[in-house]
Amino acid sequence: MCGIVGYIGTQTATDILMAGLEKLEYRGYDSAGVATVLEGEIHCVRAKGKLCNLREKLQREINPAQVGIGHTRWATHGKPEEYNAHPHMDAAMRVAVVQNGIIENYRELREELKARGHEFRSDTDTEVIPHLIAEFLQKTPDSFLEAVRQAVNELRGAFAIAVISADYPDELIAARQQAPLTIGFGQGEFFCASDTPALVPHTRAVLTLENGELARLTPVGVEVYSFEGDRLKKAPRTLNWNPVLVEKQGFRHFMLKEIYEQPGVVRACLEAYLDANWSAENASKSPVNLSLLPQLTDSLERIQILACGTSWHASLVGKYLLEQLAEIPTEVQYASEFRYAPTPLTPNTLTIGVTQSGETADTLAALEMEKRRRIDLDPKFQPRLLGITNRPESSLGHLVPNIIDTHAGIEIGVAATKTFISQLVAFYCLALDLAYQRRTVPPARIEEIIEGLRLLPAQIELILESQERYIEELAHEFAETQDFIFLGRGINFPIALEGALKLKEISYIHAEGYPAGEMKHGPIALLDAKVPVVAIAMPGSVFEKVLSNAQEAKARDARLIGVTPIDDQDAEETFDNLLPVPVVEELLSPILTVIPLQLLAYHIAARRGLDVDQPRNLAKSVTVE
Ligand code: M6R
Repeated sequence: MCGIVGYIGTQTATDILMAGLEKLEYRGYDSAGVATVLEGEIHCVRAKGKLCNLREKLQREINPAQVGIGHTRWATHGKPEEYNAHPHMDAAMRVAVVQNGIIENYRELREELKARGHEFRSDTDTEVIPHLIAEFLQKTPDSFLEAVRQAVNELRGAFAIAVISADYPDELIAARQQAPLTIGFGQGEFFCASDTPALVPHTRAVLTLENGELARLTPVGVEVYSFEGDRLKKAPRTLNWNPVLVEKQGFRHFMLKEIYEQPGVVRACLEAYLDANWSAENASKSPVNLSLLPQLTDSLERIQILACGTSWHASLVGKYLLEQLAEIPTEVQYASEFRYAPTPLTPNTLTIGVTQSGETADTLAALEMEKRRRIDLDPKFQPRLLGITNRPESSLGHLVPNIIDTHAGIEIGVAATKTFISQLVAFYCLALDLAYQRRTVPPARIEEIIEGLRLLPAQIELILESQERYIEELAHEFAETQDFIFLGRGINFPIALEGALKLKEISYIHAEGYPAGEMKHGPIALLDAKVPVVAIAMPGSVFEKVLSNAQEAKARDARLIGVTPIDDQDAEETFDNLLPVPVVEELLSPILTVIPLQLLAYHIAARRGLDVDQPRNLAKSVTVE
C-alpha cells in the first residue's frame, strides 16, 4: 500500500518520478506528491486524488531538479486530503520524506516533538519522521545518512522511506523495515521504488533492501548499511522481466486483459511443474516436480494455510484438494486472525503462505510468527514453510526458503484474476505431488486428473470466446442491482465466495457468497425479486443438491443465474440465465466456473462506469496490518 519512488542522477527528476508513480498507482491513489531539491530549497508539489491531478499541477512549472522523491498514497492516518499527502517536511522545510507503512509509535513521538517546539501540519503518522531527522541533523550536521539512521531507530512499525534534504543535494537515503523497497542501478543514476515496475523502464539491475537496512544513493553509487550503522557488502541482481505484462495491449482495462491471460497462465504453470513424460505405466517418480526439499513434506501430519482475500479463497480450494487427494488434514486461516489466535502447535505441520503480491503485511507477519514460535520451542527445529506466489522476488521470497512460483507474472488490476487461477493450479500440482508420495491416489487416477488439467487452457479459451459478449449484455441488466447472492457447494463454495468478492470490490454492489445448503438457515430471508442469485451447479457429488437449493431461491422470486455445464437440460429448466462452461469432472471445475463470474463482475462494474482497475478504497499490495 502506497507507492514510493526516488531518483538521483542526471535526468529531470520529476519526469522519472511521475513515470514511476504511474507504474505504482495500483498501490494507492488517494493523493500523490513529489519533492525535489532545486537551488538549495525543497520544492514540494502535492495533490488530492489520482495522479492526473498532480500531473496537472506539475505541468504549470519547469523544474530541472535531478534528485527527488515521490509518493502515491493509500490513506491510513488522516483523510485523503492534500495536507496529508506525502512528501512531508520538517518545520524549516529542509527535509522531505515519503513513507509506505505505519509508524506505530507516532503518537508518542509526535507528543515528544511537540513538547520540544515542533509544529505539525498533517494528521499523518509519517510527519514525525522529517521532524526527527531534522533534530538529529542538528547533532550530526556532517552526515545526512547518520541522522536518518538515528531517526529510523526511533521508529516502531512496518515502513519503507525515502528521504531528501535541501542541505545534501547529492544524496537520497532509503530505508526498509518490513515494507518493500528496491534500489535500481543505472549509469550515473540510481533509483528506489516500492516495486519493480517503476524501475524496469530504466534498469534491470536491482537490489532489494532487507529489513533493517538503509541505503545512501548518490550520483556515483549506492552504499548499504544496517540500522546499527555497519556497512554491508551487497551486489545488484538482474531482474527477469516481461514488459508486456504491465501494458494494457488494447484492452480497455488491465482486469480484462488479465482475465484473457488466464489460459496462458494455466499452461505456463502446468508446463513448469508437470513431467511431460510421466504416465501411470511409467510412474517411478512423481509426475510433479516442485523442487521441494524432502524434509518439507516427509511424514506430514497436518497442513495450515495462511492467506487473505482472494488468496484465502484459492487456499480453500487447496484445502479441498490436499484433503481429498493427499489425505492430509488441512486448515485455512485468515492471516490477520491467525496472528492473534494461532492454532496450537502440532508436530510435522507444513505452513503455507499464499499471496499474489508477496507483500501482504498480515500474511508475512503470520508466517514470521509461526516460524519464530516453532524455533522458540526447539532452536534446532527447521520450520516447514512454503510460499505460493507469482512474485518469488517479493518479501515472501525472502522470508520463506521454499517457493512455488505460480508463473502468473505481475498483475496490475486490483481485483485478482489470473493470480487466483495460478494459485489454484499450484495447489493442484502440490496436492498431486503429495498424493503420489503418500500413495493415496493410484497412478491411473493421477494420470486421469493430469489429462483433465491439460485440457483446461483450451476450455477457458472457449468460455472467453463464447461467453463474453453474452455476459456483457446480461451485465447491463444488473447495473442498478443492489444485492447479489452467490451459491456453491463443495469445491465450488470458495468460487461462490470469490464471485461475490469480485463483484463487491469493483462494482460496489453488496454481494455474499454462501454454501448453497446454508441458505435455508437464515440468508434465504434476504431473497426477493430484487436479489439475483448466482449458483454454481457442476456435475458431481452436489449437482442435484445445488439445483434444489436454486429452486428454493426461485420459489422466493429470486432471479436465478446458473454457472452450469453446457447443454444440461436440468440446468436449463432451473435457471433464468445460463453461464455454461465445458463439462469437466467436479474436482477440476473451479478453474472454469470462476471465469464467467470474473467476466460478470467486470462487465457490471464497467457498465456502471467505475474505475475497474483501481476501485475506491483498495490497493493491490496491502502492506499495512
Ligand atoms: O497479495 P495477496 O494475495 O496477499 O492479497 C490478498 C488480498 O488483499 C487480495 O486478494 C484482495 O482481496 C484482492 N483485491 C482480491 O481481488
